[in-house]
Amino acid sequence: MKKDFLTLASLTAGDLRRLLALAARCKRSPRACAAALSGKTLALVFQKPSVRTRVSFEVAIRRLGGSAIYLGPDDVYLGKREPTKDVARTLARYVDAIVARTFSHKDVEALAHFACVPVINGLSDLHHPCQALADFFTMSERCGRLRGITLAYIGDGNNVLHSLAEGATLLGVTLRVATPARYRPQTAIWKAAVKRARRTGARLMWSDDPREVAAGADVVYTDVWTSMGYEREQAIRRRAFRAFQVDEALLRVAKRRCLVMHCLPAHRGEEITDEVVEGPRSIVFDQAENRLHVQQALLLTLLGKDGGR
Ligand code: CP
Ligand code: NVA
Repeated sequence: MKKDFLTLASLTAGDLRRLLALAARCKRSPRACAAALSGKTLALVFQKPSVRTRVSFEVAIRRLGGSAIYLGPDDVYLGKREPTKDVARTLARYVDAIVARTFSHKDVEALAHFACVPVINGLSDLHHPCQALADFFTMSERCGRLRGITLAYIGDGNNVLHSLAEGATLLGVTLRVATPARYRPQTAIWKAAVKRARRTGARLMWSDDPREVAAGADVVYTDVWTSMGYEREQAIRRRAFRAFQVDEALLRVAKRRCLVMHCLPAHRGEEITDEVVEGPRSIVFDQAENRLHVQQALLLTLLGKDGGR
């Protein structure tokens, strides 16, 4: 059976911990796995722009001895030039795995359903599991543990938050979320996370008050108010999220040595101030770097001797 990586909820807590441990080994000894995926080819099917996801996957596969082919929005009009299922079956005849960045999560699911090679979600409207994987790796590196730490997410109930909620509830991280009431995380994803939290002992809460959520937090996390694909709502969102900016005043209620995270790209002056991004608590470029290490671990797991096809 080929394995896909579409959401964090598709993993067990054990799978997730093993991936994080492998990522730590990849980071410690970057050359140890050189040639482990020699001759393997990755197709990157991207319907939206990307710096981190694209470059970190291209470098990761090269470090492992393989190569990548980038197909941007002008190369593959998913479902427009030809049906997504035909793209999936065609690419699977040439490459060993597909990383897809799509508007609709249904497109990543369709690629996974029809391709006989592993499909990795490189961001959809609902999930960004590679990002959350790097984020938990970064938190564990910086805090020395994951279980019991308090992560405060302030902003939009979007794809990044959904993946953080799935991972936090698997790993026993306390997740406190502040969004405007209209921009809460999707009900089905949140309900499943609450259910999972009951099993794993993780704690989850939501509020529309950023100060209540940030109080005493170990980590304060934010992401853009307007995700890719929602640009038409930008003006309305700017007004709705005005009270949800991560600034120095908000950080004063968090732990004194709290860490600040953002998946990037950041919109300074909207969800976060320039002062906070550039300040001593910010670990945003560690997060960005760690995309590379966790994705090496992911590729080894999906395509290495014991995984993949
Ligand atoms: N964080 C992230 O996924 O960045 P890119 O959109 O640049 O890939
Ligand atoms: N939520 C953002 C994440 C970008 C990496 C978006 O989807 O645009």
